[in-house]
Order: sequence, then structure tokens, then C-alpha cells
Amino acid sequence: MITALRGMKDIIDDAPKYEYILNTAIACAKRHGFNLIDSPILEETALFRRSVGESSDIVGKEMYEFVDKGGLNVCLRPEGTAGVARAFIEKKLDRANGVNRFFYRGPMFRYERPQKGRLRQFHQVGVESFGEKSVYEDAAIILLARDIFDELNVTYRLEINSLGCERCIPLYREKLSAFLNRQNDLCDDCKKRKEVNPIRTLDCKNETCQKIYLDAPPIADFLCKECREDFGALQDILTRNKVLFSHNKKLVRGLDYYNKTAFEFISAEIGSQSAIAGGGRYDKLVEQLGGKPTYAIGFALGVQRIYDLIALPHDKREGVYIGAIDKEAIGDIFSYASRLRKKVKTFVEYEPKKLGAHLKNADRLNAEICAVIGEDERKSGAIWIKDLSNGAENKPRLNDWLERFL
Ligand code: HAM
Repeated sequence: MITALRGMKDIIDDAPKYEYILNTAIACAKRHGFNLIDSPILEETALFRRSVGESSDIVGKEMYEFVDKGGLNVCLRPEGTAGVARAFIEKKLDRANGVNRFFYRGPMFRYERPQKGRLRQFHQVGVESFGEKSVYEDAAIILLARDIFDELNVTYRLEINSLGCERCIPLYREKLSAFLNRQNDLCDDCKKRKEVNPIRTLDCKNETCQKIYLDAPPIADFLCKECREDFGALQDILTRNKVLFSHNKKLVRGLDYYNKTAFEFISAEIGSQSAIAGGGRYDKLVEQLGGKPTYAIGFALGVQRIYDLIALPHDKREGVYIGAIDKEAIGDIFSYASRLRKKVKTFVEYEPKKLGAHLKNADRLNAEICAVIGEDERKSGAIWIKDLSNGAENKPRLNDWLERFL
């Protein structure tokens, strides 16, 4: 038997949750003024090397990468930001004025060791905003994530940090490198990260490394005036909008493109893979990918990570179930159903059945109305109706009843 690949799951039992999370998040993003973007799942590998970065686990170890039939090195996208930034530049939006705000949803691929909450194919809903320097945009993006989780009734902890900018970070990097060079017990990954992007060491999960980094110089001490002021303003706006947060001085995120604001929403209820959303500013990425310098910020949430945190709203009965008692009426009910379907969710039963069997079917399908035509109804031009939400039965004229929906 051929089964799905390790770390990849069919969305069947969880389909209602998947759909509910997507619909809620997308509706919220639209209310916040974001528009759909749908970029390809397959991209040139170089895109992620130049954006997510060589020091990240994603690029270093986890990409689904192969050479296509034309000899091009391509990979399944491990995340959404790089592709959206590429599309933004390709469409020359970096040369136009104004702010562009996009949302996207879809599968991402990372060859990680699968465990609870960690899949090799998982889904994100993400948003990216291009062209806005104001720290109010940082706050607006965080408030959007907050609104989505509030609407889904998901409780979380929000951690924020500032990763500085090109003015203050080089000095910090030097100090951190000097500190790292004095350490003898760094893990093999950190020995590499130290050379490529020393700041990414702070994110290491290795216990020995984490102990070492307790004494590392904190980024906060090196922020320039503008970064300090912006980070202060962000905290002020969040507080005024009743968003609880903590300043995690070691939060650096697992991707290389971030500067200034970085944040993560974390759940205490789902075990070790506790980040349910993450994001931040990436003001240098568009330029690094060959576009004009463009301010940018975004986040993505992990759809599967929040399955266990949500309860579906009470499933209301919906739609019409229509069936016949005798074979002669099947053709008719099929035509009524095709008319009803233009306005209302409709289930049609192709086999003649007794009334009791139709009622059972309609109940199993969670239909609101069970409509049945027997010989009597056929002759008199009526239809037998039971409203399954309140038990009321009646026998209206067929045409009147159809008219009510159409
Ligand atoms: P990320 O932190 O790598 O950021 O992923 C965002 C979210 O995707 C995580 O918080 C987590 O909920 C979910 N996630 C990540 N890996 C897995 C996995 N293996 N299995 C299940 N869920 C997972 C990004 O991807 C950035 N592109 C976010 C961003 C957008 N930054 C700026 N704009």
C-alpha cells in the first residue's frame, strides 16, 4: 500500500478546522486591508538562499531541493515571504509609490524531523506589508495577528524584540563575535552560525549553548537611537491597545532577513513546538533580491499548530435534503435540486426510499430541511417538508415552496 510521505498529512478529519482557521484568518486580513497574493510553490533555490539565509536551518538542512528537467536548481518553498517579495519586485511594485499589503495561504515544505506540531508539509496563513516605515505598521501587523487569535479564541503569549538596523547591528555583531570566539563549548551548528551570521547563535536550542548565551551581550544595549525609539513606541502602542507582551531579549527568529521588530506568538498548551505565529520587519530583503529599497514587515501563522487550540463553533444545521419515495419522482427532484443549488446548499438522494430512511439521511448530513415527494405529493403538486431544527412539518405547494428559496 502506498501511504502519504512521512510528515505529510491528508486534510480529511481536520478539514472543518482547517477551513475554519483559513476563513477566519483571511476574513480578518481583508478587514485590515490586505489583498490576496498567490505565488508559486516551486521557486528557484537561490531565492531562499539569498533571503532566508545560509545560516538558517531551513536553508542549511531542510529544503526540498532538486534539479528540474531544464537543469535549474529549484525547491518547494519552505516559507512564503521570499516568494511574495520576489513577486513584488517582478511586478515592479517597488518602483511605485504607496503601501502594498498582501495575504497568502498555502503549503510550505521543510524537511524537518516530524513530531507533534512539526510537519514536513504544513500550511501557513501569512501577511506581508511593503512600503511603510512607520512603527504603527509594526503595531498594526501584530494587532492583526492578535485579532485572528482572539477571533479563533486561541490564548497565547506574545514575545517581541528589536534586532536593530544596519547602523547599530554591525557593532553588536562584532561584540557578539568576540564573545563567541572566547567560547570553547559551542555546538557544531553554532560554530558555523558564528561565521555566517553570529546573531543566529542566540536562537540555538542546545542546552549548553543556551547556558553560554546567558552571558552574551544583549542586543538591546547596542540599539541606535532610532531603533530604541521605535521599539519604545511599539511597546507603547501595544500597551495602549491592551496587547500583553514580554520583551524576550534573546528572540532572533529562525530566518536571516529580519531587522528591527521581531515577534512570536506562543502557546503554552501545545508542547515543545509552541510557536503559533512569527514575523517581523525585513527592510533590506527587497533590495537584497534586486529591488529598490523598500520597508517591509509581515508574519505567518501555522495552521496545523492551532488545530488543538480551537473549538469549532456549534455546527448549525444547514441546507435542504431532497428525496423521493418512488422511482418516478427522482428525475423531478433532481431538477428541483439543481435549481435550489443556485441559492442554497442542497443534498439530493438518487434512490427511492421510505420516509424514515430519508429523515435519517437528512439528519446525518446535518441538513436543516428534509423535503420528500411521494406519489400523493406528485399527484397534488405538493411537497412534504420537515424542518429538522424545530421538528415542524407541513405540506406546501411545490412551486410556492421552491419560490421561497429562489
Ligand atoms: P516561521 O517562524 O518560520 O516564519 O513560520 C511561521 C509559523 O509557521 C510558525 O510560527 C509555526 O506556527 C509554523 N510552522 C513553521 N514550521 C512548521 C512545521 N514544520 N510544521 C508546522 N508548522 C510550522 C516564517 O515562515 C516567516 N516567513 C514569517 C514571516 C512573514 N515573517 C515576515 N513575514
